[in-house]
Amino acid sequence: MVLHAKGRYAKRAHFDIPEGLWEEEHGREGFFGPVSHLYRHHPPTGWTDIEGPMRPQAFNAHKLPKTQQLGALPERVVMLYNDEVSMAVWRPASPPDHLFRNADGDELYFVHEGCGKLFTDFGPLNYCPGDYIVIPRGTTYQFAPTTPGNFFLIFEGKGLFREPDRGLLGQHALYDPTTIETPEPEPILETGTFQVKVKRLNQVTTITYPFHPLDVAGWKGDLTVWKISIHDICPVNCHRMHLPPSVHTTFVNDGFIICSFVPRPLETEPGAVKVPFFHRNIDYDEVLFYHDGDFFSRDGIGRGMVTFHPQGIHHGPHPKAIETTESKTDTNEVAVMMDTRQPLFVTQEAQQCGLADYWKSWQ
Ligand SMILES: [Fe+2]
Repeated sequence: MVLHAKGRYAKRAHFDIPEGLWEEEHGREGFFGPVSHLYRHHPPTGWTDIEGPMRPQAFNAHKLPKTQQLGALPERVVMLYNDEVSMAVWRPASPPDHLFRNADGDELYFVHEGCGKLFTDFGPLNYCPGDYIVIPRGTTYQFAPTTPGNFFLIFEGKGLFREPDRGLLGQHALYDPTTIETPEPEPILETGTFQVKVKRLNQVTTITYPFHPLDVAGWKGDLTVWKISIHDICPVNCHRMHLPPSVHTTFVNDGFIICSFVPRPLETEPGAVKVPFFHRNIDYDEVLFYHDGDFFSRDGIGRGMVTFHPQGIHHGPHPKAIETTESKTDTNEVAVMMDTRQPLFVTQEAQQCGLADYWKSWQ
C-alpha cells in the first residue's frame, strides 16, 4: 500500500495542525500497524449522545467493597475481563489467614496503597505503593500487610508477564535491570495447621499441611517472583513529537500489555501537540488506572479511578486539558494502562462504582 496525502493535512503528524482542524490517528495493531491521520473540522469526541454499550466508562475503584475473609475466593473484586485477562481490585479487610496459589493464570499485582511483606515459595519481598509484583502461576504465597488500607490492582493473564522488546533502545533502557528485585530464600520452619487455597477454573481447593508450606531452603532458575517499582521506570521521551503510549509498555502478556505513565517533561518544540492525540484504538480495548498525581489529559479524574475506552469509539484529551496543557512544561501523573486485544466485559461490581456521566465529559 502506498502512502497518500490528500486535502489539508499536517506535514508532520502531531505537529502544526492546520488552523481550525483536529487531528485523529486512525491506526491498526495498537500504534504499530498501518495508519492514517485524519484532519477534521470537529473533535471526534464532540458527540451529543451515545446509545448502546460502547459508551466510554469511568469507575471509582475506591468505592469497591473491602473483601472479608470468606474462607473462599474471590477475595478480589474483578472489574473487567475477557478470555485472556482479568483486572481486579483487592482491598483486604484483614490480613489473609491462609496461603494462596493461582493455578488459572500468572498474576501481576500493582500496589496502589499500603505497605507490607509478601511471603512466597522463593522467599519474602517487602512492598510499598508503586510496586509491580509478578507472581508466576502456581507459586504459593501470602500477603502480610504492615499498614492498614492495602489496595492492590491485580492483572491475571494466561501467559508469563514478560519485559517488552526494547528494540533500538537496547537492554539498559526503560529501567536499570538491577532495580528488579527477586526474593532471597527464607524457609519458614514452623509446625501447626496451614492451609493453601488453590484457584483452578475459578474454583477453590483447600490443601492442609502440618508444616509451613513456604519451606524452600534455596532455589535457582529463571522462573521466580520479581518486583519493580513504577518509580524506577525511566520513560522514553521526544521533545519534538507526542509519542504513542505503547512506548510506555512495561509488561507484555498473551493478548494484552501493561503500560506505565510516570512524571515526564511535555513536548517543547513550538507547534508540537502536547496531549494524547484523538484515536479510536481499533484493535485494543484501553483501560487506565490513575495511581497518583494530576492526570493531565483528563478532567475530573483522580486517584483510584479507572477509565475504560472500548475499541472502535474515539477518545482523546478533554477540552479543559488542552487549554491547561498549553502553559504546562511537564506532567506528574502516575498511571497504569492495560490494552487488550479482545474486547472486555464489565462486571456488575464495577458498574456499581461507575460514574454515570463520564461519556459527556468532553462536551
Ligand atoms: Fe488511547
